[in-house]
Amino acid sequence: MTCVQWNQSYNVDVKEIDGQHQKLVGIMNKLCESIDGGVDDFVIDEIVQDMADYALTHFETEEKYFREFDYKKTDEHIAQHREFSQKVLSLQKDLREDKRNVSADAIGFLGQWFAEHVLKYDREYVECFHEHGLY
Ligand SMILES: [Fe+2]
Ligand SMILES: [Fe+2]
Repeated sequence: MTCVQWNQSYNVDVKEIDGQHQKLVGIMNKLCESIDGGVDDFVIDEIVQDMADYALTHFETEEKYFREFDYKKTDEHIAQHREFSQKVLSLQKDLREDKRNVSADAIGFLGQWFAEHVLKYDREYVECFHEHGLY
């Protein structure tokens, strides 16, 4: 199962960011496939950790530019990033309690959340980033 189907509409026209989004979606899809494929729990745990770490790296990149460019919706956007990290933490808790089925759904939900975040929140900063010459 592919959790998140990547398409052109997710592009924000900032090279570094688009690359990070695609990589994160790739990890999410790898996770879904691993769960469906009955991979060992410890492997799944590792992929979830990869996803959590990479999401953090990505959020830090965006937030670095928010500060640099004095982006006006910084606080609101960072709150969304924190919400995602919280969801990942509760997913990790569920996995450790061995709720495999619940977790497959949860990753689908996480993927959906991420896609909506990109479309709604990330798109909003594009004009500001471009104004500062970041493409
Ligand atoms: Fe993003
Ligand atoms: Fe974001």
